[in-house]
This record gives sequence, structure tokens and C-alpha cells, in this order.
Amino acid sequence: MGFIIAIDGPAAAGKGTLSRQIADAYGFHHLDTGLTYRATAKALLEAGLPLDDAAVAEKTAHDIDLAGLDRDVLSAHSIGEAASKIAVMPGVRRALVEAQRSFSLRSPGTVLDGRDIGTVVCPQAPVKLYVTASPQVRARRRYEEIVAKGETADYEAIFAEVKTRDDRDMGRADSPLKPAPDAHLLDTSEMSIEAAFQAAKAFIDAALNR
Ligand code: DC
Repeated sequence: MGFIIAIDGPAAAGKGTLSRQIADAYGFHHLDTGLTYRATAKALLEAGLPLDDAAVAEKTAHDIDLAGLDRDVLSAHSIGEAASKIAVMPGVRRALVEAQRSFSLRSPGTVLDGRDIGTVVCPQAPVKLYVTASPQVRARRRYEEIVAKGETADYEAIFAEVKTRDDRDMGRADSPLKPAPDAHLLDTSEMSIEAAFQAAKAFIDAALNR
């Protein structure tokens, strides 16, 4: 079994960028587990199936192929919203967590990022990071990403969406977003990407040398 790095945090906290950087630096496999929820939601939407039928959603989740996850196709805001809705269903979570756990065992190591990696998917991971930032900073970053693509965006609307997503992800009964008791907290509100990476690297190197 390889070395597992579990990274959790709310939407737009910077955990995706950080996870990819860590995976590159250590030569580990990376799985953005949000994409598995997004792929399930997209398959339902495309088939014209309802988002509130737990049995249909669970069956769809079982058919998701981790090798076919495409970030560009799945990044649409509407898919993220739909993903957050089906992510409250225990059957969907069971199916996707099983696939995520088998991914986590790959050699020489893996980086998984999501909402429940340190608490549910890989509670045995030797390194757990909880990456967060204030809702204002997260909304601002998302706003700037959209504007940088040449599209128009409304900061207040984005801020409201960030709050709604947080409430849903933190408030659900099954596997709510929260830091594992032994997670290292990384608040990136006032941190550059490089500073966040260096902080994470220090925790990882310490665990690798234990
Ligand atoms: O990180 P993201 O925006 O791609 O995630 C989309 C939704 O998927 C998120 O709102 C909640 C759900 N999710 C989850 O419940 N557990 C995970 N490990 C990852 C994502």
C-alpha cells in the first residue's frame, strides 16, 4: 500500500490546486473526489433522470469510471450544484467511497481531495490537511477566475452560492464536511499558493520521515 495524503475543505478554498501540486511534487496519483459526485450528477442530468431518486442515483454512481473523469467538462457551476444535492444520499456516497478507497491504495502514493477524505474515506491517512479560507476570499477568487476567462460575474451572487454550498456540505447527516480530529488546518485566506504548498510540504515531509 502507498502513502495517502487526505485533503479536505470547502468549495473554492484552493485545495484542488494544492492537491495537484503535491501530487506532482511527490510523484503520487491524484483523485479529485468532487469529480466523482459531479460525474454522477452529469450522467443523471444528461439522461433526463431526476436528482431526487436515490435508487437511480446510486445505480448511476456505481457505473462511474474513475479513468473517464474530465475536469473541463465537469467544472460547470450547474453540475457542482447538482453534485452537492446528490451527495447527501448515503447510497451514492457508499458507491463512490468504495471506488475512492480502491484508488487510494495505489503505489507509490495518492493524494485525494474532497469533503470527507480524512473523516470517512481514508481515516488511516498519515497526512490529513483541512484547507479553508473565509467565504469572502473564496467568493472573490471564484469571481476573479470567471472574469479572467473574459466572462461576466456578479460577486454578490457568487458569495451567496458559496454560502449555500457550505451549508449543504457541512449540514448533511451523512459525512458532513468537517476537519478530522488530527487534520492540520491550513487557512489560505492570506496565503499565496506557494506559501500554502510550502506549509503542506512541511507536514508531509515530517510524516514521511517518521
Ligand atoms: O469539490 P467540488 O465542488 O467538485 O464538489 C462538488 C460537490 O460534491 C460538493 O458540493 C459536495 C460533493 N462532494 C462530497 O460530498 N464529498 C466529496 N468527497 C467531494 C465532493
